[in-house]
Amino acid sequence: MQLIRLRIENDAMAIAYYPAEDQAATAHFMIAYNPQQGIGENLENIKIRLAGLHFDAAVLENGLDYPFSDTIVGVNYERIDVGLALTNMLNIPVVSQAAVEQDGLTATVKAKATYLKWHLDYYGQYDGVRNNGQEAMLTVGNGYFSLRGAYVEAHADKNNYPGTYVAGIFDQETTQIKDHAVVNEDLVNLPNAQFMTFGVDHQPPFTINQHDIQDVYRSLDLKTGILTISMIVQLASGHLLQVQSQKLANMRDWHRYAIRYTITPMNFSGSLQVYADIDGSVVNGNVSRYNVFDRHHLQTLGLESQTNTAYLSGQTKTSQITYTIGAKLTSPDVETTKHVQVTNQAQSVRQTLSLNVQAGKTVTFDKNVVLRTSNDHAPESLPAINDELAQANFEDTVKSSTDYWHNCWHDADIKIRGDVTSQRLTRVNIFHSFVSAAAIESGQLDASVGARGLHGEAYRGHVFWDEMFILPFYSLHRPKLAKQLLMYRYRRLAAARQNAQEAGYAGAMYPWQSAQTGDEQAQFMHLNPITDTWDPDNSRLQRHVSLDIAYNVWMYYHITQDKAFLGQYGMEMLLSIAEFWISKATYDDQTGRYSIAGVMGPDEFHENYPNAKQPGLKNNAYTNMMVAWLFDTIDQLRGDLANDVYQKAASAANFNGQLLNKMDDISHKLTLEINRSGIIAQFEGYFKLPTLDFRAYRQKYGDISRMDRILKAEGKTPDAYQVAKQADALMAFYNFDVPTVQKLIEKLGYKLPKEYLTHNIQYYLERTTHGSTLSRIVYAVLNQLDENYDQAWTLFSEALFSDYYDIQGGTTAEGIHLGVMCATLLLTTRNFGGVSVLGDQLQVNPQLPEQWDGLKFKHTFRGTHYHFAITHSKVCVTADQAQPITIAGKQYQLKANKPLTVADVTN
Ligand code: BGC
Repeated sequence: MQLIRLRIENDAMAIAYYPAEDQAATAHFMIAYNPQQGIGENLENIKIRLAGLHFDAAVLENGLDYPFSDTIVGVNYERIDVGLALTNMLNIPVVSQAAVEQDGLTATVKAKATYLKWHLDYYGQYDGVRNNGQEAMLTVGNGYFSLRGAYVEAHADKNNYPGTYVAGIFDQETTQIKDHAVVNEDLVNLPNAQFMTFGVDHQPPFTINQHDIQDVYRSLDLKTGILTISMIVQLASGHLLQVQSQKLANMRDWHRYAIRYTITPMNFSGSLQVYADIDGSVVNGNVSRYNVFDRHHLQTLGLESQTNTAYLSGQTKTSQITYTIGAKLTSPDVETTKHVQVTNQAQSVRQTLSLNVQAGKTVTFDKNVVLRTSNDHAPESLPAINDELAQANFEDTVKSSTDYWHNCWHDADIKIRGDVTSQRLTRVNIFHSFVSAAAIESGQLDASVGARGLHGEAYRGHVFWDEMFILPFYSLHRPKLAKQLLMYRYRRLAAARQNAQEAGYAGAMYPWQSAQTGDEQAQFMHLNPITDTWDPDNSRLQRHVSLDIAYNVWMYYHITQDKAFLGQYGMEMLLSIAEFWISKATYDDQTGRYSIAGVMGPDEFHENYPNAKQPGLKNNAYTNMMVAWLFDTIDQLRGDLANDVYQKAASAANFNGQLLNKMDDISHKLTLEINRSGIIAQFEGYFKLPTLDFRAYRQKYGDISRMDRILKAEGKTPDAYQVAKQADALMAFYNFDVPTVQKLIEKLGYKLPKEYLTHNIQYYLERTTHGSTLSRIVYAVLNQLDENYDQAWTLFSEALFSDYYDIQGGTTAEGIHLGVMCATLLLTTRNFGGVSVLGDQLQVNPQLPEQWDGLKFKHTFRGTHYHFAITHSKVCVTADQAQPITIAGKQYQLKANKPLTVADVTN
């Protein structure tokens, strides 16, 4: 093993490089601190000094003795977890000399590497959006509800936001702003029942603050679903305590969660109080720019208590969904039924437990919570909750969670060898994909996945086309869950028909932003704070959302061959969506082609033509290609269904033979604009727009990702330029593969020159600011398809880091970006692993990044379970049923449960 050893002193860092663990060091460096920089920035110098050397691990010689981490050092009154910092910087495990002395180097490094791959940890106290972003990343939940990873001791304030969300619980409020009544439908922040804190000697309870917290370490264990927050607190009174909270969602009885709170008085014996609240006074306050709107969604209707349980019930203001939350406070160390006191405040209920504690002796408290709403199938009456609370206990919740995650990792894990950070963040993404949705699989919830997970209030918890980046992962690993998310859309088909009708079209037009009922929740106007005028918001013209839903229906069916779903629901959706597009397409006698106007593509910088009276654009390439694809696909899928089943779906969708003929005609006559170099215009007339001097804007503004805002502030409009927020014209290549899209384009009667893909990618990349996290991941896929692997890797890495580093500078605080999270997972298996599910049998063409040594994952395709183990030179596949498969262009026959290894599949 090649190693570095380091000592971090007050004035300098000493580093030695060991080419092998049993050899002498071949290089020594002393790096003096730059006093202008913080210790974190100084650590960067290590990276520079070690450039070019290879090493597998670092040993820290002077780590402090802490129970939660052995790689913390103190430098000039600042403390830093050098292990966390250097792992992020150098992508290696960092171990302590003390641990090496105890367990030996190899075992210690291995254990640390394993730990890092299964934990998301933060050391130290952060504030503002940085802390709020970490809360989002530390969210625990089960798809029914989620709890942001805030300190249990925190109330919402400028640094902390302990949000609680239940999937599908929305509420509409109207706010009068100037002369407009603005209606917003919010995913509701429900009462905060995770609140717990303590006090000493009946002094005011402890609150989260910079001064009293000496140290804090937060660790999310991805294997168990438990978030552990360990603190060392020194109160102004001098009392020193070690405080730990562990919280987690029950993954089986998904109305429950549990918190274990342990307190160790370190320098005193005496009287301690523990407080456990259910706070119904919370508002939706996670997104500061929404503060001008009415944020009050809750009405507390009742507070009750019995011995050691407390209840709060209430109702959302306009959607009138009732909820009841019950909490039980117990302790193995004290007879809680006798000692808990309950006090009701106007909108919250507090349980207090007072006891005598001894120095050095840990006391434990468990808070079990049950949360039900009238949206559930199960009753939310007090007796029902009381019964459930009586059964609830911390250990049982831990077991349910550990079991769930064990099974989940068994089916859905993606194992990456040779890159600790990619492995960790990949697992974080998988974890949050299930935190956002797990319970929906039960079929008892009417909800889908919001663009920001269940992790924050941005976009008001609405469901967008982002589903298209999310569902394929579920379809491959958890098909029942994918089906239930599609059912959310099926149940809103009537609303989509209504939307189409109101806009003057036939068929079904799904809303750009969907929430409770499936009506359009995107805003029509926005108050521009700079000009104080109401500007139109045309984002709802992203009608492609219906095509993205159709893609998900097809993808789910293609992967599972669930004919029952296709017959009963899917086909009706596809036909209804098709009918909408038929009614939207217009025929031009002169060109002999159909056009689609009044739409927007995914690029939200382009809403209209400059100076146009009508909103929207004509012949958006992505939209038109997807319409052509949909029409062909319906034609093919009809053949998969028995005639009577198809007829039933067709009559439910009101789809007749005439429409079938029309569909056929349109499918090969839609308009695209393609120039001489083979560049596909994002929309008709795109090439006439001027380009922007990106270099000058970068020089002037630095970050230009939100070029729309920059241009608007300069009195200009992005509509007038060739500038894109995100991938648009080339999106179809992301959805399918190059041959499929090429065939689509050729069927429309267009010819493409050689190298057209490379030219298109470069052309649009030069004009794209990646103002959406969905952009880089699409371009990563495109570059991978185009064999531009270095650029693909760079874009993939940035996409993988999106939320961890909050690359948009504050948006993670308002919820994770679930679309990009899931898209990184798909890219890993589909492009790096090279497993294409687009055909009738699997095709494998691996292209592992140089940075990785190996990749392992499973897929369920058409009822067969596959396991893949892929390295740079070999593919090993095992399937539980005999199946044909193509690997690196050659056809093989897999035998049931017999691994097939194919060598020489080198990238
Ligand atoms: C993106 C959209 C996306 C939405 C929700 C926007 O910034 O431009 O493509 O659907 O965020 O994630």
